[in-house]
Amino acid sequence: MFKNKILVVDDELGIRETFNQILQDKYIVDLACSGEEAVKKAKKEVPDLVLLDNILPGMNGPDVLKEIHRINRYTPVIMVTNIDSAQVAVELMKLGAYDYINKPFNTNQVLDLIGKALTEREQGREKSLQVTTFFDLISKMAPGANPRSLLNRLMDVSIQLLTADSGSIMLVDNKRISIEVTKGLDNETIKTVLKKTEREIIDRVVKEKNPLLLVNEFSRKMRFSRFGGQEEIKSSLYVPLKIEDKVIGVLNLNRTTLGGNFTEDDLQLATALTNQVAIIIENSRLQKDREEVVLEAIMSLAEAVDANDHYTHAHSEKVMKYALLIAEEMDLSEKEKSNIKQAALLHDIGKIGINNSILNKAGKLTPKEWKEIKMHPLIGRDILKPLRMLEDILLTVYHHHERYDGRGYLDKLKGKQIPIGARILALADTFDAMSSARPYRNACPLPEIIAEIKKGAKTQFDPEVVKAFLSILNTKSGLWLQIMANSKKP
Ligand SMILES: [Fe+2]
Repeated sequence: MFKNKILVVDDELGIRETFNQILQDKYIVDLACSGEEAVKKAKKEVPDLVLLDNILPGMNGPDVLKEIHRINRYTPVIMVTNIDSAQVAVELMKLGAYDYINKPFNTNQVLDLIGKALTEREQGREKSLQVTTFFDLISKMAPGANPRSLLNRLMDVSIQLLTADSGSIMLVDNKRISIEVTKGLDNETIKTVLKKTEREIIDRVVKEKNPLLLVNEFSRKMRFSRFGGQEEIKSSLYVPLKIEDKVIGVLNLNRTTLGGNFTEDDLQLATALTNQVAIIIENSRLQKDREEVVLEAIMSLAEAVDANDHYTHAHSEKVMKYALLIAEEMDLSEKEKSNIKQAALLHDIGKIGINNSILNKAGKLTPKEWKEIKMHPLIGRDILKPLRMLEDILLTVYHHHERYDGRGYLDKLKGKQIPIGARILALADTFDAMSSARPYRNACPLPEIIAEIKKGAKTQFDPEVVKAFLSILNTKSGLWLQIMANSKKP
């Protein structure tokens, strides 16, 4: 059977032995005759509870208490004192003592007190484990977490940790308040949540930006009508969900039948949980903002490239649109689609580093010129490398001239070795090149391009990408043709 370990600290041998006798049946007892010895033992193995003499030679009781809590702040320490003064007792409790026993003590009282302290410690441990699990879970959800699933998680965990019967999370947008998540509330109640009394409380929390604890009579008077008198709310908590000092929502928890009233501690815990979720929502939002800024920068870079190579004006944007249609047809994930979107806009960014006379040459390129032009995916990758956010798309840009049969450049990758984004770009890029007019040739007619692409399946192109392309032309050719038609001519 599992036994808790109790460390008894007293300089009097008689007291140590008395405690040993009382406790040894139920607990593992360890004895220390000085504060220094106690700290040493606690460091070696943290006891489950400490019985600590208040007055010791050398390191005295309060200092030992502080040291023990530095080692583990959840270890309950019961002070053994000779005091009648309530003042001293209060001081000890302020220092973090669980409680105190006055000498001479009653055996049953000692056992009861120890039992109570150990039970509470166990509950506290469970609670802190749940809190840690919660933080762990939500930190794994971030960034880019869906705010609604975060709010659902916040609701579940706070109901469980704070032993609430019901709760809701409301979102505030300007003056509009909507109920986003509820738990333990029936439909009738939900309908009345935003009615007068409740609304006044929520408005107050939003305005003052502070958590609110409602207990006892106050709570009943304020909110009894909400439940039509059927269920009596013992107490309620309201915690603002703040982002940059702006309240974007309110968490509400209620106790009707369970437990006692909510306490200040409960309010603090609910605030900590809510703050954590607010930080993640804010981070997701910031991340989104950052992505938008980067995308804007990408667009202007891509435009700069197109402007440089005036025969391919708006080429990047068209390739991006074609590539996205294919990616959607292939049912790629949102992340892959966003990657393809950015990579498509930037695929030829490396042309910035290629001599204009080569880029704009109407005639046939010499082998040396070809060699130089073939470097543009590499130059592109190097330009984008320092932008950490773009790491994901680097490979797509770098490999956009690989061929499915391994005869492309720069690394001669084959088949599925080539990133999916690059396999899609290869087709979209070719399509746009063939369908755009150049000074030295007309645009190819669509049937000819389609035939060429079909022919290139398994050699130049990934057959699955070709299949998706053909399927788009069969089922929603309008979308594809629209991109072709809307393209700006130089
Ligand atoms: Fe290219």
